[in-house]
Amino acid sequence: MDSLKAKLDLQQLPHHIAIIMDGNGRWAKEKGEDRLFGHYHGVESVRDIVEGCAELGIGYLTLYAFSTENWDRPAYEVTGLMELLVDTIRKEVETLNKNNIRLHVIGDMNMLPPYARNEMLEAIQLTAKNTGLNLVMALSYSSRWELMNAVKTLAEEAKAGTLRPEEITQDTLSNYLSTRSFPDPALMIRTGGEYRISNFLLYQLAYAELYFTAIRWPDFRKENLYEAIIDFQQRERRFGKTSEQVQDTELSPSPQISLQ
Ligand code: IPE
Ligand code: IPE
Ligand code: MG
Repeated sequence: MDSLKAKLDLQQLPHHIAIIMDGNGRWAKEKGEDRLFGHYHGVESVRDIVEGCAELGIGYLTLYAFSTENWDRPAYEVTGLMELLVDTIRKEVETLNKNNIRLHVIGDMNMLPPYARNEMLEAIQLTAKNTGLNLVMALSYSSRWELMNAVKTLAEEAKAGTLRPEEITQDTLSNYLSTRSFPDPALMIRTGGEYRISNFLLYQLAYAELYFTAIRWPDFRKENLYEAIIDFQQRERRFGKTSEQVQDTELSPSPQISLQ
């Protein structure tokens, strides 16, 4: 593991990593266990990856923990996940503070049962002054939900006359998303072997590097994170330009190219 870590270029770390933590249910089933068993073990991976990102000095880590569509799962699984969430947050707040980690939530918090919502709001407040890693939990989140809300607010403001449609830019739109205070992810990892985005950060992932691995989330550890980052560091991010242009830019950075 140390040799993998030594291979990382610490000057070229992705400033923001987003992860679709998938494969808990199958991991459990493969062991003849209930799906919830997989979710419980998934928490160990969350702990390890959060710690790994904090150690590296990554600025932002967004974890897709529960999607809007996940509300349609069997009631016992939804309840189990909510209880696991509350239990984990309650146990981990102290560690978050010790490690200077600030918690954020994106998603429809109103959908959460009150006990879960209150626990999350409290943890957000308790960690609000931390200045290290920003840990963003996507909870009851979906990109289409987020975009719909942005469009509604924009339309209301245009109707009220406080926003002129001709003044809307790409930055305006970004500012109406729940991710407004975070840079776009540079690297998106999906575990569990599926090759899809499942309604996650559709707008924000426009130029993210995508990394898919068959490893089930409960088995995902720091060394797997390092592998993903090493893979990321071998790619050329061209942002629509040619390879030659990008190489020129590396010699004399242009403000138009974001190297997050
Ligand atoms: C991801 O694992 C966790 C959540 C969606 C809450 P899954 O529960 O989707 O696991 P699989 O994909 O069924 O294996
Ligand atoms: C995506 O996983 C959501 C989370 C990991 C929280 P899903 O398991 O819900 O996605 P699909 O249904 O396979 O696309
Ligand atoms: Mg899944």
